Amino acid sequence: MNILGIKCSGHDTGAALITDRSGRLEISAISEARLNRRKHSYTYPLLSIQYVMARFGIESLEELDLICIDKHGELWPQRGSQFGRLAAKNRRTNEYDFDARFNYLIEQSIRFPKERVKYVNHVDAHAASCYHVSGFSEAAILTLEGGTGFYIGKGTDIQVIDRTGYGGDEYRDGKITHGTEVSWPRHYWNTSNLYDLITRKLGLDKFAAGKTMALAAFRDRFTVHDYLQIPKDRHQGFFTDYRQLILRLGREVRDFIPTSKATRDTELLEQYWVNIAREAQDALEQDVLYMAGLAGKKSGLRNLCLAGGVALSCVTNRKILDLGIFDNVYVQPAASDEGIPLGCALWGYYDIKGGTSVTKMEHAYLGTPYNASDVPAILSKWGLQGRRVAPKEIARMLSEGKIFGRIAGGSEYGPRALGNRSILADPRIPNMLEIVNTQIKHRERFRPFAPSCQADKQDRYFDLPCPSPFMLMACSVTEEAKPQIPAVIHVDGSSRVQSVTPAQNSAYYELIGEFGQITGVYTLLNTSFNDDGEPIVENFEDALLSFVRTGLHCLYIEDHLVERPSQAQCEKLKAELAPAIKSRVERSYSAAVAAFCDPARFDQFSRELEKSTLSDLFLSLSQYVRKAKSMHLHEQVPGALGRGIRITINRVGEVARHSHSAAAMYAATASMLCVDLVWRFKKALRV
Ligand SMILES: [Fe+2]
Repeated sequence: MNILGIKCSGHDTGAALITDRSGRLEISAISEARLNRRKHSYTYPLLSIQYVMARFGIESLEELDLICIDKHGELWPQRGSQFGRLAAKNRRTNEYDFDARFNYLIEQSIRFPKERVKYVNHVDAHAASCYHVSGFSEAAILTLEGGTGFYIGKGTDIQVIDRTGYGGDEYRDGKITHGTEVSWPRHYWNTSNLYDLITRKLGLDKFAAGKTMALAAFRDRFTVHDYLQIPKDRHQGFFTDYRQLILRLGREVRDFIPTSKATRDTELLEQYWVNIAREAQDALEQDVLYMAGLAGKKSGLRNLCLAGGVALSCVTNRKILDLGIFDNVYVQPAASDEGIPLGCALWGYYDIKGGTSVTKMEHAYLGTPYNASDVPAILSKWGLQGRRVAPKEIARMLSEGKIFGRIAGGSEYGPRALGNRSILADPRIPNMLEIVNTQIKHRERFRPFAPSCQADKQDRYFDLPCPSPFMLMACSVTEEAKPQIPAVIHVDGSSRVQSVTPAQNSAYYELIGEFGQITGVYTLLNTSFNDDGEPIVENFEDALLSFVRTGLHCLYIEDHLVERPSQAQCEKLKAELAPAIKSRVERSYSAAVAAFCDPARFDQFSRELEKSTLSDLFLSLSQYVRKAKSMHLHEQVPGALGRGIRITINRVGEVARHSHSAAAMYAATASMLCVDLVWRFKKALRV
C-alpha cells in the first residue's frame, strides 16, 4: 500500500508518504517550508507531495491507495473547500505566505482519486504521528496543543478516550459527549492557548513558544512575583477551560513594546517579563503533569507517547519522566503541526486500511539525500572553492574555534536539526553562545544552544537516564562537565542534549568522535542551519545562501570543505543566489501544477472566481456566521465603540460560538450579523 498524508490548511503544510511494498514500513516526509523557503508555509504542499512520491518512484497520484487530509476544523455545516471560495475570490492573505486563491484552485483541480480521499481529525493525527512510530506495543497517548486528546494504543489500534479541540466531536471516557452532527462545534481554550497568549504579550511571534521557555529559565535572577494569578484549584477533569482566564489576562497583562529592535532581547530580561514567562511555564508544567498523571491512572500503562506542540517543551517532558509513573516517554521529533502529514498517513494506514507492518522511528532523517557527487559542480557553478576532507580535519578546525554549517544526507523531519542540517561549534568556548546568537544566527541573546553527544558517552556530561535522540528531553550537566561545555548550558544549569548513535547517523557520530579525540570532549554545539526568519536549509544551494548570509566561517557540504570567501564575493553570491532560488521555487510550482492538476478545472475555477453569483451572497452570510463565531475579545471591533460595548459584543460572540442552546446560539449569531453589517455600513460611509 502507498498512503499519502497531507496538511494543506493552516501553517506548516507538508506531505508524508508511507509504503509497505518492500514488506516493511518505509516513510518519506517533509514540510513545504523546506522546499519553498517560506517559514511555517501555508501554501498547498504540492512540492512536498512531489518530493515524497519521488522518493519511492511513484509517478502518478493514481498509484496512491489512500490520501489522508488533515481536517483542522470540523466545521458545521460542511463546506466544499478548506480555504473558502469567498476567501479565494478576495485573494485573502495573511502575514505568512497564505494565498487563499492559489490553495483553493489547487484543491479544486488536483487529480486526487476522490473516492480514495479521507479526512483525519487533527488531534487524532497528532496521536497517530507519535504512537505508530514509537515501537511500543501498548501505550498511553497524550496530544497537547490547541486541541487536547488522551488515547490508548494497543497493537496497531488507537482508541480515543478523551478529546476536544478544533470543533471536532468531543469525547469523554471513550464516549462522544458533544457531537458536531447535532450541534455547533466548540473548542476549549487550554493550557497551550494560555502559553500562546503570554508569548504574544512578550512581543514574540506566534510560533515562538520556545523563546518563552528560554526566558522563563532566568527566574532566579529576579524577585518572584505572581502577576497572572492562575487559579491553583483549576484541575477538575481532563479538560481545563481557560477561556475566562485568557480573556482576563488579555486585558490585564501589558504588551511588551521594546524601545528599539536592537535591544528587544535585553529589555525582555526584566522582572515583569521574566515573571510572566515563569508563571506561564509553571502553569503549563502543572497542567501537563496533571494530565500525564491522569493518563497513567486511567490507562494503567507504563509507556507514554506525547504529541502536539507542547511536546516540544523538553523541560516538561523531563518532568513527566521524573514523575516515575511511566518507564518510557516517547516524543516523535515532528511533534508540532509539522508532523501532521505523517500522522494522517499513519492513521490512514492502520485505522482506515488495517495495515499490519510496523516500524519504529529510530532517527529523524526522513528527507531524501542529495547526490554527494554533485557537490563539485554546484560549487563551481557559484564560483566557490571546495576540497574533499576527512572528518578529522573538520574536527580540528572546530577545535580551533571555527563555526561550521553542515549539510549531509537526508534532512530531519520536524523543527530540530540533528546533525544533517546543523550549525556546529566548539562547546568549550564560553562566549560561543553569544557569538553564534548574535553574529551567526542573528537571534535573541537569551536563547540557549543544545549539545550533540555520542550516546555511549552521554553519562560523562549529562544527568539523563535515557537516550535523547531528538533533543526533546532536558537534563542537567554534571559538575565535572560544567567547565568543559559552558556554551551549551542554559542559565538555569539545564541542557537539551541530542544523543547520537552510529546506527542513527554514523557520519555525525564519527565527527563528534574525532572532535573528542582532539579535545577530550565528545560533544558539539548544535543548532539549526538557517538564518533568523529562514527555514532550515534543505538542499545544497539553500545551504550556500545561508552560508553567505550568516557569519559562518566554513561550510561542510557532504564530504567537502568550503572556507568563507571574501566579503565582496559573499555579497555577490547573496545577490545572485536569492533570486535564483526564488525563481527555482516558482518554476517548481508551475511544474507541479502541470503534473498534478487538471488544467481545464483549474481554468474553469479561475474564471468562476472572477464572477459574482447568487451563491456568493449565501457564502457571504455564512462568512458572517463564521465571523460571529470567532469573535474574540482581543479583536479590534469598531474602534468608535466604547470598551463596554466591545466587551458586550464579544460576549455575544462567545454565546454564538459555544452555546449549547440552539435558540441562544441563533439569537446571538443574528445579533453579531447586525453588528457586523452596521460596522461594514459605517466603514463604507467613511470611505
Ligand atoms: Fe496541531
